[in-house]
Amino acid sequence: MKPTDRIAQLVEQLNEHNYRYAVLNDPAISDREYDALMRELSDLEAQHPDLIQPDSPTQRVTSDLTREFPTVQHQVPMLSLDNTYSEDELRDFEDRIRRELPDEELQYVAELKIDGVALSLIYENGLLTRGVTRGNGTQGEDITPNVKTIKSIPIRLKDPVPYCEIRGEVYLDHNTFDAINVQREKNEENPFANPRNATSGSLKLQDAQQVAERRLSFFAYSFRSPNIQLPTHGENLSYLERLGLPVNTNHALCDNIDDILTQAREWEEERQKLKYDIDGIVIKVNSITQQNKLGATSKSPRWAISFKYSAEQAETVLEDITLQVGRTGVVTPVANLKSVQLAGTTVSRATLHNAEELERKDIREGDTVILEKGGDVIPKVVRVVTAKRAKDAIAFEFPKNCPVCKSPLIKDESEVAIRCENSQCPAQLKGNIRHFASRTAMDIEGLGTALVDQLVDSELVRDVGDLYNLKLDELAGLERMAEKSAQNVLNALEASKQQPFHRVLFALGIRHIGATVARTLSDNFHSIDRLRDTPPEEIAAVHEIGAAIAESIHTYLDDNSDWDWMGWVFNPSPNIYAHIDKGGDWNLIKKLRAAGINLESEAPADTGPKPLDGKTVVVTGTFSRWGRQQAQDLIRALGGKPTSSVSGKTDLVIAGEKAGSKRTKAEQLGIDILDEEEFFSKYVSEENV
Ligand code: IVH
Repeated sequence: MKPTDRIAQLVEQLNEHNYRYAVLNDPAISDREYDALMRELSDLEAQHPDLIQPDSPTQRVTSDLTREFPTVQHQVPMLSLDNTYSEDELRDFEDRIRRELPDEELQYVAELKIDGVALSLIYENGLLTRGVTRGNGTQGEDITPNVKTIKSIPIRLKDPVPYCEIRGEVYLDHNTFDAINVQREKNEENPFANPRNATSGSLKLQDAQQVAERRLSFFAYSFRSPNIQLPTHGENLSYLERLGLPVNTNHALCDNIDDILTQAREWEEERQKLKYDIDGIVIKVNSITQQNKLGATSKSPRWAISFKYSAEQAETVLEDITLQVGRTGVVTPVANLKSVQLAGTTVSRATLHNAEELERKDIREGDTVILEKGGDVIPKVVRVVTAKRAKDAIAFEFPKNCPVCKSPLIKDESEVAIRCENSQCPAQLKGNIRHFASRTAMDIEGLGTALVDQLVDSELVRDVGDLYNLKLDELAGLERMAEKSAQNVLNALEASKQQPFHRVLFALGIRHIGATVARTLSDNFHSIDRLRDTPPEEIAAVHEIGAAIAESIHTYLDDNSDWDWMGWVFNPSPNIYAHIDKGGDWNLIKKLRAAGINLESEAPADTGPKPLDGKTVVVTGTFSRWGRQQAQDLIRALGGKPTSSVSGKTDLVIAGEKAGSKRTKAEQLGIDILDEEEFFSKYVSEENV
């Protein structure tokens, strides 16, 4: 395959995996597979910098900033760790250090890599004054009230150190995690995929009382203070313990890589017994003087590396295979297993991904299989133990029809997925409603899986618009539904009418329209009518919106309800109806409008002329104050139009750190270029940030 094609393919795949992971909470591949694809992409991009796509995941500033918490600057950036899965790369790590520090004696500390969420704590005169998330590494969110609910984090240190910063990992132990999910299922909320997601979700809750109920835990792994400087990392860990912080007891001094590997293997054996998730070990140069000499790249320190463990495995019997139809019609085979303990949780189901994978691995009902869990993904079947296969086991045959609505399944040549293309399929409808009601979409509390099933099965709801016509007696008439809960659901539906337009747009579940894209579309076009009336080329011209998104939104909103109707009358076969219906969701929009759902955003307040009115502005490079998205929001707020490429029409380029070809091009074209400081002092005053 040509590099151009492979890059395009990787960008699309990685963005989709990222969406599944970050938005749907439903990752399809392990971290390790994701890392491998990401590495392939960055290697290709390094060889062909001219082929870097603007929507490449390598161009994304990783950030977990949300709008609700105040943003604060880290005094020392919170970097991430370089990671490896191989012994050879671990030896390369040591070789590099030896080259940098010839003739120096080296010692390392090996410790567990806790699979949680990084946190920075500031103590002043021994008192906890601030708890901040990693954020984008430079700026994080001040979540102090939430941090104070974590019982293992002392509010007062045992020594009144004048000033110090302590960093560590917030996590959930397996028992607490399981209890939270049991409770969520009871409340008909989606369970968390893994302890790390649950931790990160909990830390971002707005109500500290709720955070307290999550019973989060903490391990400290770093200490920094202008008042107390100890010579080694090992001594810092002991001092953290003395200060009253929880420090993981599994840490060891090692003299060389062989020592480290022995230690790593020992811990890997013990891993099953731990009460929390780890995803590897971290190796740190022990001497702080040496750490300082080695320094860091913009991403990670040169004095530390993480050595990741492969996923944990377990053996069990695959009892049968069932097929699940998702929101977009993709049919996924699922293995129902004899329950088995794996990585601290009981597993009874595993994804088999798709027909190709089933065939490739030749997985049959009744087989003994090896399962794997990558710390964060739904477990999957790695391979079959063929030696244990029954003689009469027969190969699994993928059905030709949708297991739910019986319409023929279609395999799109360009992808591996097999789909049910009937948009009226009850399974898709259920998925759509669950997505519509979910917390990040319309946030309709009480509309959980069981109720959605009942509403669709009883045909009370045929699309999400019908939700708003539900009557109290209809709801209360459903099994296991008391009048009080029915009223609560109606109240939640009523409240959801206040959700802003960008949430509605996301909730519709249009292909490629994730939460961020929905916000961008809403900021740029302000209403569903304008989105419908704007030609796809114009939509695609907006920064961070590509042709695929534009096409998808255009197809979805295309007002061909006549076609829709004719198709139904003349061609009542469900499949043909479904095909024609694909483009005709405008009827749904009409229904939602009638129900009083927000289909436009507040018109931006007119505050008179703005400093960047009418100017086309390109942002390039990285900034210390803003993420890419924030910088663009700022430009819009100042009246300017952010675009992605530099051309004769560009009025201004704001060039941050590491601005590359765009800056050069702007120089060639003689376009005004400002750096972050200049832009800030010229345009950003207190009243317009
Ligand atoms: S040291 C400069 N030690 O792993 C990075 N990190 O990508 C210093 N983590 O965000 C981090 N256990 O949240 C360190 N024992 C440990 C750790 C650990 C987990 C996390 C940390 C960081 C990520 C590295």
